Amino acid sequence: MSDSIILGIESSCDDTSAAIIKGNSILSNIAANQEIHKEYGGVVPELASRAHQQNIIPVVEKSLTKANIQQNAISAIGFTRGPGLLGSLLVGTSFAKSLAMSLDVPLIEVNHLQAHILAHFIEDANPMPPKFPFLCLTVSGGHTMIVLVKDYFDMEIIGKTIDDAAGEAFDKIGKIFDLDYPAGPIIDRLAKEGNPEAFKFNKPKLENYDYSFSGIKTSVLYFIQKEIKKNPDFINDNLNDLCASVQKTIIEILMAKLEKAAKELDIKEVAIAGGVSANSALRKAMQDNNEKLGWSIYIPKFEYTTDNAAMIAMVAQLKFERGEFTDLRTSATAKYDL
Ligand code: KG4
Ligand code: ZN
Repeated sequence: MSDSIILGIESSCDDTSAAIIKGNSILSNIAANQEIHKEYGGVVPELASRAHQQNIIPVVEKSLTKANIQQNAISAIGFTRGPGLLGSLLVGTSFAKSLAMSLDVPLIEVNHLQAHILAHFIEDANPMPPKFPFLCLTVSGGHTMIVLVKDYFDMEIIGKTIDDAAGEAFDKIGKIFDLDYPAGPIIDRLAKEGNPEAFKFNKPKLENYDYSFSGIKTSVLYFIQKEIKKNPDFINDNLNDLCASVQKTIIEILMAKLEKAAKELDIKEVAIAGGVSANSALRKAMQDNNEKLGWSIYIPKFEYTTDNAAMIAMVAQLKFERGEFTDLRTSATAKYDL
């Protein structure tokens, strides 16, 4: 891998992030989270893009300072072109373009989903990088898919959600429980004190490797409405058990299809990526399959799971080596296939 120094910029949703990579080693990975969305129970696109505008310059400056790098040491600039919220993407894209122009260095577009997967190749993401071909369960607030990764830039989605993403299910069910947004990490924490067998929720019965998470959300909602009629404090009285039971159901749904795919495709290299891969029950289930099914498992370091610019810089580095540069007239795109 080349030793070039590249700046990566991520602004697809509600995190403004900038990172510096040298080879595949991360020198800095700075993120400004947007607290503002908490009070609305979800990301408000207009507020996100305004916050990106406020954050982008300080975040990039901080990434340079932390890495102890001068602007003129940068060989290229990578940015998230999509998928994501258009208004948010535009901020990172415009900034990356103008900086690339003023420094006279190449611009490199990055697909956010590819980046979640290729984050596994960052030097300190794993003790060892995955070997091709591998399966990657990509689970975030916006996406849930099983990807067959044949090579760095040869990926095939073999299964995906037909409705909500797994992270979205955590967040929406958390809202029913009156938890803050994003509820995924809160449910994870509360579940540790609860009994995962306390309540049973419906699981979807889908063919092939596809997922569905809207059913469990509805099943939780109806169950809660029924119980609240009998005991208005039902949620508070049972919060830990509710969280543990919901988490168990979601993780079982995720793992069942991943196990089916691994078995049918005869692949034992199995990775997870995206915000939900921070979930402790998912990590534990992967660990169990390492022992039970002989999987070689790849779980990236926590800071590379949720949205971050380190993964963007990693993909930019791989594209830089291949001479894959982006025209300065390129614009952001809300939809962007793998
Ligand atoms: O990848 P990410 O940071 O942003 C998207 O691209 O969506 O993922 C954010 C999602 C949110 O839905 C959040 O609730 C979920 O990841 N999440 C978790 C955990 N940490 C983050 N879900 C379950 N358990 C966690 N520990
Ligand atoms: Zn993401």
